[in-house]
Amino acid sequence: MRMVDIIEKKRDGHELSKEEIYFVVKDYTKGEIPDYQMSALAMAIYFKDMTTTERVHLTMAMVESGDQIDLSDINGIKVDKHSTGGVGDTTTLILAPLVAAVGVPVAKMSGRGLGHTGGTIDKLESIDGFKVEIDSETFNRLVNENKIAVVGQSGNLTPADKKLYGLRDVTATVNSIPLIASSIMSKKIASGADAIVLDVKTGSGAFMKDLEEAKALAEAMVQIGKGSGRNTIAVISDMSQPLGFAIGNALEVKEAIDTLKGEGPADLHELCLTLGSQMVYLSGVASSIEEGRTMLEEAITTGKALETFKTFISAQGGDASVVDNPTKLPTAAYTFEIEAKEDGYVSEIVADEIGIAASILGAGRTTKESTIDLAVGLVLNKKVGDKVHKGESLVTVYSNHESVASVVERIDRSYHIVKNKVESKPLVYDIIYG
Ligand code: URA
Ligand code: CA
Repeated sequence: MRMVDIIEKKRDGHELSKEEIYFVVKDYTKGEIPDYQMSALAMAIYFKDMTTTERVHLTMAMVESGDQIDLSDINGIKVDKHSTGGVGDTTTLILAPLVAAVGVPVAKMSGRGLGHTGGTIDKLESIDGFKVEIDSETFNRLVNENKIAVVGQSGNLTPADKKLYGLRDVTATVNSIPLIASSIMSKKIASGADAIVLDVKTGSGAFMKDLEEAKALAEAMVQIGKGSGRNTIAVISDMSQPLGFAIGNALEVKEAIDTLKGEGPADLHELCLTLGSQMVYLSGVASSIEEGRTMLEEAITTGKALETFKTFISAQGGDASVVDNPTKLPTAAYTFEIEAKEDGYVSEIVADEIGIAASILGAGRTTKESTIDLAVGLVLNKKVGDKVHKGESLVTVYSNHESVASVVERIDRSYHIVKNKVESKPLVYDIIYG
């Protein structure tokens, strides 16, 4: 087989065979296909697309390019959740103990974050003593005993994706639905998921800015799931403003605790119930999505969800007393209020700008090597649709620096205030089933 023939075939809009796709992925990973040929193929895929069959082969070839996590020692159907990413997305931290509380096995492998705030692993590390490096035997045992464990990403998962993603990043081929969909699905399948719930974000703070694109990506991933024997459901949710109130690592842990108590922000609470009920249903623990939702609501009101969070923290060496006493989390030296300059209604909060502001404070990483400040971040006191009076606080800034002028300016710019009442956008636009 020759790479040049495969590039030509795709350039002319034809369907590649399973053998051709596996050949490309295998030889590219080994370094036997050079970057310039792979770039040409990625660009041909960008313009000519791939059929569902091709997308499934590409996904599975990438899964098989590296280690695959074996979760077969864990009882039950392992459902994983994935978000395409946004600002202040605290859902994983809430969903993991919430669905575990009703009996769904949560065997979560999580990464460190790059961008606005840390990943789930960073957030958990703001709890004193919490260990994210546990061996696979302990991991499996903890999930069987408590229904929940979270481990840092290790091993050599989907090296083909890692290499191809790096190449796409510098060849203007990131924004291709078949390539994004296979990239995301390959990582979920390699980390051992039997079933997958996807949270596909849309809006200014999301990767897919418009709803039609988000739907196409969701549909593509659901079809890959179907074609590879993993039940997959995609929820399309709003990211035109940050989710919840908190953006920052320890601040988001506090927000997760509040939400597990039933005292969290309305949008975050609702999205967790929506995603969670799909997870409970896919795991077979509930026989319908409605039943799943009722179970989760009960887990919150009875305190079972919060108990599960405590058990989970203790089991991984963390100080579970933070749950009852969140002041034990890292705290910032200074707080500042950003006040509204006029009366009116909040019509827009530009999510990316808020994310960058949190990052400048030190809540996010700009490179893989940079260290993050777990204590700092932002708490939004007003969201889209809220009424504000001149002088009221829009945002509280948590900082370890005395001077935050550039952050203040950015937040000011990202809040739009208008005279007349505005409606906020729907939180969930659509749910796509396989
Ligand atoms: N996220 C991924 O994991 N892969 C992509 O291709 C794009 C976003
Ligand atoms: Ca949040």
